[in-house]
Amino acid sequence: DKGNHRHFMAKEIHEQPEVVGRTLAHYVNFSAGRVELPFELPFDFKDLKRISISACGTAYLAGLVSKYWFERLARIPVEIDVASEFRYREAPLEPGELALFVSQSGETADTLASLRYAAAEKLHTLSVVNVPTSTMARESAVVAQTLAGVEVGVASTKAFTCQLTVLLSLAIAAGRARGTLSAEEEKELVDALIAVPGQMSEAMKREHDIEILARELSKAKDVLYLGRGTAYPLAMEGALKLKEISYIHAEGYAAGELKHGPIALIDETMPVIVIAPFDHIFEKTVSNMQEVAARGGRIILITDEKGALETGLDTLATIVMPSVHPVVAPILNSVPIQLLAYHTAVFMGKDVDQPRNLAKSVTVE
Ligand code: M6R
Repeated sequence: DKGNHRHFMAKEIHEQPEVVGRTLAHYVNFSAGRVELPFELPFDFKDLKRISISACGTAYLAGLVSKYWFERLARIPVEIDVASEFRYREAPLEPGELALFVSQSGETADTLASLRYAAAEKLHTLSVVNVPTSTMARESAVVAQTLAGVEVGVASTKAFTCQLTVLLSLAIAAGRARGTLSAEEEKELVDALIAVPGQMSEAMKREHDIEILARELSKAKDVLYLGRGTAYPLAMEGALKLKEISYIHAEGYAAGELKHGPIALIDETMPVIVIAPFDHIFEKTVSNMQEVAARGGRIILITDEKGALETGLDTLATIVMPSVHPVVAPILNSVPIQLLAYHTAVFMGKDVDQPRNLAKSVTVE
């Protein structure tokens, strides 16, 4: 049932404040300002030398965001692969390490094969899955469930933000166990997480502006998305969302890579979507934006109130998000990139819930 929405994708985008809140309630003790994992771990984060993450598509990009979190907050080195590479590349693995998998369906063939491979190599297995009865949930030593509810749209939206919520909770728990986060720092992060559902509702209020912008985007042949830090995987997620439902060619790049190739593509016809929350690397991204502007590129900037004040650049449009703790910014900034892809595809008359050539769950390699 789509409720009063035209598509499942729209319904699922709008459900995010609720399902992210529900997922959070499962992992966080709100009054204590602490993460409390709803399961026992058969290992101690303190003893881990490394985490290896494998997943596909959007779930892989959630994993990539979490690499920044695990490394920064818990000081654990993280390796991450798309599952189709991990399963065949014969990486040196040590028994007792943690292999982490992310999957909405819990049935993706390559991710499942990677899980079986890691288990055979005697690694601890932990899967962040949305479908609790799935094969991956059954076969993982630890299941960290996302409570996104059934996701029907082929383009993953609410599952992604719920994955981010669970992965950040895990990274905070790891930071506490490893002594890299004080109780005070943990409380600050947990408070930031608790504020996210309300801020997501606030972000939805930009929908009308985004819908108008989508008409502009629908004329493009190619779109470039740029970001640094956790906004880099988000740039790739924005590009993936746009290409899968609108069939416009889009690429996500680390903003710092601009000069190493993609800048050659920039001209007056090329929209460049820059995701730049006001954080410790904001200024660096602004200088990349200047390079784009100097070549006539049309910038759509997704930033927050502070960032919008600071840039001083002429953009085609600036989408202003609420100011949030930089650690949770990728969860919040998922909303405008999803809405932009959605409205572009709808405006172009595409079948957003059932894009051509794609299946909701890829159960063959
Ligand atoms: O069910 P999974 O999370 O394992 O699926 C992984 C990918 O197939 C999936 O995220 C795909 O990339 C989506 N269509 C992206 O919107």
